[in-house]
Amino acid sequence: MIATSSLDSTVESYQYKIQSCDTLETLENLRLEILGKNGFITQQLKILGQLDPESRRHQGAVLNQAKETLSKLLQKKKQDLEEHHLSQRLAKEAVDITLPARPWKVGKIHLLSQVRQQITDYFQKVGFQLAEGPEIEDEYHNFDALNIPAHHPARQNHDTFYLKDWPHRLLRTHTSTVQIRSLTQQKPPVRLISLGRVYRSDDLDATHTPMFHQVEGLVLEPGVHMGHLKGCLMDFCRSFFDNPNLTFRFRPSFFPFTEPSLEVDICHSFGKSDQRWLEILGAGMVHPQVLQHCGIDPDTTQGFAFGIGIERLAMLKYGLEDIRPMYQSDQRWLDYYGQRWS
Ligand code: PHE
Repeated sequence: MIATSSLDSTVESYQYKIQSCDTLETLENLRLEILGKNGFITQQLKILGQLDPESRRHQGAVLNQAKETLSKLLQKKKQDLEEHHLSQRLAKEAVDITLPARPWKVGKIHLLSQVRQQITDYFQKVGFQLAEGPEIEDEYHNFDALNIPAHHPARQNHDTFYLKDWPHRLLRTHTSTVQIRSLTQQKPPVRLISLGRVYRSDDLDATHTPMFHQVEGLVLEPGVHMGHLKGCLMDFCRSFFDNPNLTFRFRPSFFPFTEPSLEVDICHSFGKSDQRWLEILGAGMVHPQVLQHCGIDPDTTQGFAFGIGIERLAMLKYGLEDIRPMYQSDQRWLDYYGQRWS
């Protein structure tokens, strides 16, 4: 059994050790050393039993006193260290709430995506289905099946991008390819539109880019005629431009895959006194030979098709003079013409 004076100095040295602890981990080790199963106080309490009753009572009281002093001190030090730890963390993670808020950048829907959606919404409402076709095409679907044979001058009009290492493969020059792809898969009645990218190696200027978008329409239904085609296009344009009085001009034209063919102009006003006719689309009755290429009998089935430039529609609706900013990713342009997600 340790003598009282020596116990006092041991307790004192433990008090000093506890005070100078600077981490919770060393404090815990110290606690075990003092109060743990094999700790100093526990050991001392164990030997109490060997003492005579008088000394046991006296020594027991002294030991309990020492135990209480050290326990309290350990407890207090633990609290101090925890508080210190927390205030250090808070200081490190402090946020300066007096700073002004940073502008919150939010992505917006690109003007062309908005217009694509408007077109899709309209045609779906009037019973058209959405069809898709590949952008890398073969000469058959882009030309031959559409009645544009190899040496037809119309092939020269389409300034085609051919793929370098892949003979007879090209980037589609129009979405009319989807007419062929759809008609070989599904039989009439058919009422579909297809929106997508097309490519022509045009010069880049205010109204031309080597890639642009078209929407193709195709309707094959019993008894369909030019009157339906005109009505369908007029209804769409009046709804799209939100102008029930929009006026149209239907001009005879030529496309190898429609007969008869026509081009459609709308009268657009750029300000009060400046009204101009602007061509917005090509259309016509599907050529009998195109139907035959798709295994459809032209004597019993007929229909119409149309192709509209989507950038052109967007420019007219939103008053843009130049197509190029649509693809230049200028943040200010995107922000101005973009639409917030809702
Ligand atoms: N494919 C034609 C073009 O790109 C447009 C068109 C489509 C014309 C359908 C008639 C019918 O110019």
